[in-house]
Amino acid sequence: MAQGEPLFARVAIIGLGLIGGSMAAAIRQNRLAGEVVGYDQRADELAVGVANGVIDAAAPSLEQAVTGSDLVVLAVPVRAMRTVLAEIRPYLDAKAVLTDVGSTKTSFVQDVEAVFGELSPHVIPGHPIAGSEKSGVAAANPELFVNHKVILTPADNADGRDVERLKGLWEGCGATVLTMSVAYHDEVLAATSHLPHLIAFSLVDTLAGEDENMDIFRYAAGGFRDFTRIAASDPVMWHDIFLSNREAVLRVIDHFTKDLDQLRSAIAEGDGATLLRVFSRAKAAREHFSKMLSGQAYVTNNSNKQVTFHLQPGGSVRGDIRVPGDKSMSHRSIMLGALAEGITEVKGFLEGEDSLATLQAFRDMGVTIEGPENGFVRIHGVGMHGLQAPRGPLYLGNSGTAMRLFTGLLAAQPFDSELTGDTSLSKRPMGRVADPLRAMGAVIDTAEGGRPPLKIRGGQPLAGIHYEMPVASAQVKSCLLLAGLYADGVTSVTEPAPTRDHTERMLEGFGYHVHRDGATASVTGGGKLTACAIDVPADISSAAFFLVAASIAEGSDLTLRHVGMNPTRVGVINILRRMGADIEVLEEREIGGEPVADLRVRSAHLKGIDIPEDQVPLAIDEFPVLFIAAACAEGRTILRGAEELRVKESDRIQVMADGLAALGVETTVTPDGIIIDGGQEIGGGTIESHEDHRISMSFAVASLRASGPIRINDCANVATSFPGFVELAKQTGIRITTEGSES
Ligand code: S3P
Repeated sequence: MAQGEPLFARVAIIGLGLIGGSMAAAIRQNRLAGEVVGYDQRADELAVGVANGVIDAAAPSLEQAVTGSDLVVLAVPVRAMRTVLAEIRPYLDAKAVLTDVGSTKTSFVQDVEAVFGELSPHVIPGHPIAGSEKSGVAAANPELFVNHKVILTPADNADGRDVERLKGLWEGCGATVLTMSVAYHDEVLAATSHLPHLIAFSLVDTLAGEDENMDIFRYAAGGFRDFTRIAASDPVMWHDIFLSNREAVLRVIDHFTKDLDQLRSAIAEGDGATLLRVFSRAKAAREHFSKMLSGQAYVTNNSNKQVTFHLQPGGSVRGDIRVPGDKSMSHRSIMLGALAEGITEVKGFLEGEDSLATLQAFRDMGVTIEGPENGFVRIHGVGMHGLQAPRGPLYLGNSGTAMRLFTGLLAAQPFDSELTGDTSLSKRPMGRVADPLRAMGAVIDTAEGGRPPLKIRGGQPLAGIHYEMPVASAQVKSCLLLAGLYADGVTSVTEPAPTRDHTERMLEGFGYHVHRDGATASVTGGGKLTACAIDVPADISSAAFFLVAASIAEGSDLTLRHVGMNPTRVGVINILRRMGADIEVLEEREIGGEPVADLRVRSAHLKGIDIPEDQVPLAIDEFPVLFIAAACAEGRTILRGAEELRVKESDRIQVMADGLAALGVETTVTPDGIIIDGGQEIGGGTIESHEDHRISMSFAVASLRASGPIRINDCANVATSFPGFVELAKQTGIRITTEGSES
């Protein structure tokens, strides 16, 4: 189509109410069609449409409206569709696109099939999710669809070009267009729109009926007003909608009635635990929904969040800070707290998306969890056998730790479960946990190549095994130990090199004995966990960005408080010190079975080193930022034995090498590591983070020694492990700004 030519030559809007009128006005205002004609049975509405400039012309009959139009939009009540379709049928051009704006889609498709005998490729059902309390063409508003969703439900045989044109038309009106199946549309709308309207109508009617003078409403506060606003909607339209979307609405009413009954019984029986569980799960879901509201309703992942970091070169890093809680411990605190008997209170919990995914998954399995509020979480443990089957797949976002640890835990439950994740997680290897679990008797299906989603069959008896891990992985070890809690006999795991031992320590803290013998950890199944208090220290993996920042930037002096100093995690300090970093460890203490200290770090002249291989598992998450340290050091740094880096949230060897190259720093990539010659000039440039949080933060740190501005793409996932990174980085002296929305 030539540029500037409108998408449609002649659009007929049948039914000139609020939605039809607004659509006509938007099409005209944005010059999306050559001509917009309107038809309505109500001559007065048509006259207003012409007088207000909503339509170009009023058609005196349906025949005149439809004849010669290449787009016909039915904006009549859903119960009137079939009659109108029969009336326009003789005049509809065989190639004209036919769409509607009704709230129910199955009924529209049935009406079209009843009248035309088939669903032609030019029929594309639609539903703009927009409205107003006002009605009639007088209220038509060309801006009504701006920043609103429009759902199109084309059939498989729909003409692709027609779908694109209609999509273009709605986008031209300012809307965001989603496509989905007719059935899915009706299910989603039954749940999120139709049921709430039904409840609002019913509640207001019940209350009004109880008090004939309706005096009761005088005492109603804002909550009641908000909750029942939709009960003032058009009764005729809603009567239409419920009768048209009967099946889907009945299903969701039944579901709701059952849940309401459960609440009734809980109140009758004084069962506070159930009330608290349902309310806190709902509160969490509502808060999640509020965040989504500003983004993408009807889409549940983060794929549309776009965050870009912009860094100005130079600066030094100073101050006294505490980074957020340890990610590994936060995950484990929820898992063990949920399975314990009694109430576990957690302080310092990481409110990052990864650990929140774990928290939400346990809520989905019936565990009452209060918080998090400023890092405080209270978990009402359900005991080893108290988890309930989740209603759907458990979505674990970006978190490999959650998925691998859950697999062990769920393999031992009496119910089936399914684990899913975002694009990055969906590419990560899960065979490393599925294979040994199968050897214990678990039944687990993976997608091709051992990737997620994982389908775990419940009710399989597990037997303890001894497992020699081929890779040093704390996640695999932890997964097997968790499964081992439920297995018959002893489950033991030997690691080829020491990896983080938070699972072992925390199990002990919950009163579950873990036998340790050199490189082997074992548990005997059948025991129980007892609730305890957990104080999560600051995450050394998050502190690492600031350790490197203060080391490489001249004039820096920074104190990091309450950092977890578990010996299986301090590789980054060992490596940096070997490179000549000035890191003082102050106030060493032990809190809840984990060593903690304050760290004071000042700028230093770093030297390149051969990184000892035994440090690799102890610094596994810190290599991206250590590569930045290496680029700033004098001489050569060599890393070997780190092939695991290739299967993290991204291939961290290649992605870092590409990023460094974008800034003019050449490196040599090897299959299991990298060689970095320090001292090359770090220029400005654009970095592709591959949505990997640690890559984004590492290059933010690199700016301190860069000679030009750095732009880092796709940084939304920083929120998985380090919410508040940007503010803290700014506060200490890193010259960072963001573009886009960070949730
Ligand atoms: C983790 C273990 C490590 C680490 C991850 C957290 C854990 O993964 O990279 O960020 O909490 O157990 P691997 O076990 O795959 O090395």
